[in-house]
Amino acid sequence: MTSTTTLSFIHRFEPGTGPGRPPLLLLHGTGGDEADLLPLGRALSPGSALLSPRGKVLENGMPRFFRRLAEGVFDEDDLRRRADELAGFVAEARQAYGLGAPVAVGFSNGANIAAALLLLRPEVLAGAALLRAMVPLRDPPAADLAGRPVLILSGAADPIVPAGNAARLAAMLTAAGAAVRHETVPAGHGLSQADLAITQDWLGRLQ
Ligand code: MLT
Repeated sequence: MTSTTTLSFIHRFEPGTGPGRPPLLLLHGTGGDEADLLPLGRALSPGSALLSPRGKVLENGMPRFFRRLAEGVFDEDDLRRRADELAGFVAEARQAYGLGAPVAVGFSNGANIAAALLLLRPEVLAGAALLRAMVPLRDPPAADLAGRPVLILSGAADPIVPAGNAARLAAMLTAAGAAVRHETVPAGHGLSQADLAITQDWLGRLQ
C-alpha cells in the first residue's frame, strides 16, 4: 500500500468494512509515520475505517505532530497551530472519504496532539484513546466535551509521563464534561498487551 499525498497531510486510508464501527484517526508517536499504527488499528477495531496521517514536524529527522522545546516541554504556540492544521485535515478527509467524526487512537506524541484537539477543537473527535498522554497545554480554553468518551492509559513505570501529570489530564477532560476512563497498566512508555486488551474493550463498547 502506498501513502496518499492528495490531502494536506501525507497519510494512509483504509476503508471500513464493518458497518457501525467508528472510523479511527491513528496518531503515531515521535519517529513514527503513517504506516506505524495501521496494524494496531486493525487489531483494535476490526472493520473500522482507518485514517493515519504523518506528523509534519521533524525533530532530527523524526516525524512529530508538534514542536517541543525539550522532552515533555511543549512549544504551545506551535501546538495550537498544528492542532488547527490537523483539524483541517480531518475535515478534508471526512469529505474525501465520506467518514463520520473519528475516534482518535494516539500514542505518546500522537496522544498529546489528540488531547490538544479535544481541548482546542472539541467538535473534531467523536472520542479518543490516549495512550501515554500528558497535559498538552498549561492553560487550555474551556471546552465542552459533554459525554465524549475518552480512555487514558498510563504506564506505571513510564519514565516520560509522571503519574500526577496524567491524572491532571484526566481531571481536565472530566471537568470539560468528557466521560473519562483512566487506567494505569504495568508497563513503561511502550505499549503492552494490557493496553491492547483495554483499548479493544473500550472501543467495543462505543455506540
Ligand atoms: C511529546 O513530546 O509529545 C512527549 O514528550 C512524548 C514523546 O513524544 O516522547
